[in-house]
Amino acid sequence: MTPSYAENWHKKTEMIENMDQKTTWDRFYAQSSSRSTTFRNFEWFFGFDSVRDFIMPLLQTRPPPDALLHVLDMGCGTSALGPCIYRHSPLSVLVTCADISPVAVRLMQEHVQARAVQPLNCSSQLRFMEMDCTQLHKHYGSSSVDLIVDKGTTDALLRSKEGKGKASLVLQQCLKVLRSSGSLLQFSDEDPDARLLWLETETWQPGMMGADVVVQEVGELRGVFYYCYKVTPRLIEQR
Ligand SMILES: C[S@@+](CC[C@H](N)C(=O)[O-])C[C@H]1O[C@@H](n2cnc3c(N)ncnc32)[C@H](O)[C@@H]1O
Repeated sequence: MTPSYAENWHKKTEMIENMDQKTTWDRFYAQSSSRSTTFRNFEWFFGFDSVRDFIMPLLQTRPPPDALLHVLDMGCGTSALGPCIYRHSPLSVLVTCADISPVAVRLMQEHVQARAVQPLNCSSQLRFMEMDCTQLHKHYGSSSVDLIVDKGTTDALLRSKEGKGKASLVLQQCLKVLRSSGSLLQFSDEDPDARLLWLETETWQPGMMGADVVVQEVGELRGVFYYCYKVTPRLIEQR
């Protein structure tokens, strides 16, 4: 029997309220993959081509010899964003696609193994990890990551019933693990009036080092405007 409008609406509301929960996403990715026998990347909004001009210019500082630029796609889901950065970066990168959902991580691993994606730079590496991004410090040292991309992950946390504290924690962790030359890019449909205020308030909490935040419009999709919020750790002047 086809679910009624009310049932669909109830399910959607329940999902939005619980977008900070691993079980919500495990169910979401399991259901999406069961609809088809062949894997297809799922993009919450926009694909790599729409956001590549925000990302690729940040991967132009050559890493030291034998080192890789560290890139993290935080809350990757089954998006093609991380694999596309790996494929298209002329400089050597280690791209980590991380998600709290083991179902999403497994689907991505299986897909990439089956397709053997070739990178532009033969030293580049791609890996998939189950990771709770409120605990980035368990996986990365301080000042060790060059670029973090977040497409819809902070949005999901901020919109859920109990995720606002997690969104703050994720931001704190990002600033801790980013190099001073690094950046966090948040792709979001949240209006700049709200997101800039949130970012500026959060990065100026006691114990936080502060950050510079700029916003650019990405474009419109089905009547919704999307933005790129670039957050860079603020350099503390040495006296
Ligand atoms: C709105 S989806 C965006 C997925 C993907 N970035 C895209 O553009 O399609 C949010 C993603 O964040 C993940 N997520 C939620 N909380 C997380 C956390 N604490 N740590 C890591 N990933 C998380 C979810 O599993 C989900 O894949």
